[in-house]
Amino acid sequence: MFLLARGSEADIYLIRYHGCKAVMKIRRRKRYRHSTIDQRIIEERTRNEVLNMIKAYENGLNVPLVLDFNIDQGKIVMEFIEGIPLTERLNKESIRMAGELLARLHLLDIAHWDFTTLNILYTTGDKIYAIDFSLSRHTRDPREKAVDAHLIIRSLRSIHKDVEGKLIDAFWEGYSKYGDAKLIQELVEEIESMGRYVKSRRKTVW
Ligand SMILES: Nc1ncnc2c1ncn2[C@@H]1O[C@H](COP(=O)(O)OP(=O)(O)O)[C@@H](O)[C@H]1O
Ligand SMILES: [Mg+2]
Repeated sequence: MFLLARGSEADIYLIRYHGCKAVMKIRRRKRYRHSTIDQRIIEERTRNEVLNMIKAYENGLNVPLVLDFNIDQGKIVMEFIEGIPLTERLNKESIRMAGELLARLHLLDIAHWDFTTLNILYTTGDKIYAIDFSLSRHTRDPREKAVDAHLIIRSLRSIHKDVEGKLIDAFWEGYSKYGDAKLIQELVEEIESMGRYVKSRRKTVW
């Protein structure tokens, strides 16, 4: 068992599972949280992650195949995706594919809610995979889906100085292939203006 990554909530190990290269994600307990609440959060996130990943996989989307899980223990064994985080391969084509993948998740009424360039893997076969579905939810509400677009656009702006907005344009181009880009774009603007409003109020009020 080889420790591949230590995330904020879970440890990720590279293992062999029935002869296949696999990843085991185990959620750590948080000592500062009450143990009953901690257990509930671990179970809820593990369940979300498993259910939405399976749903996406069954519908032909690029997400790791779930091989095994244990909700009580907060453990998931899944296919190992050989690739690099999208953060290290930001270009118009990869972002366009990320937009396409997000729109297809939304078509299944899955909102990811942690759709950052770190939770998207770019593989050697030039494919894009979404991982880390622990905050994902089943929803029909386009506002909840817009949260995903808002997050990725914000991370594109901060990581890459995308001054001309070319990457952001590429994201919407990909999204529009399967989703209502215009509606989601409007809702992202709403989220952003709400953020600006709160920020300006914070300066004047407290
Ligand atoms: N199925 C997978 N295949 C390859 N690498 C993975 C896989 N799942 C997770 N990883 C690696 O482990 C890191 C942390 O996993 P992630 O599911 O994002 O957990 P966290 O909630 O801690 O961010 C990822 O950024 C990625 O580098
Ligand atoms: Mg992550």
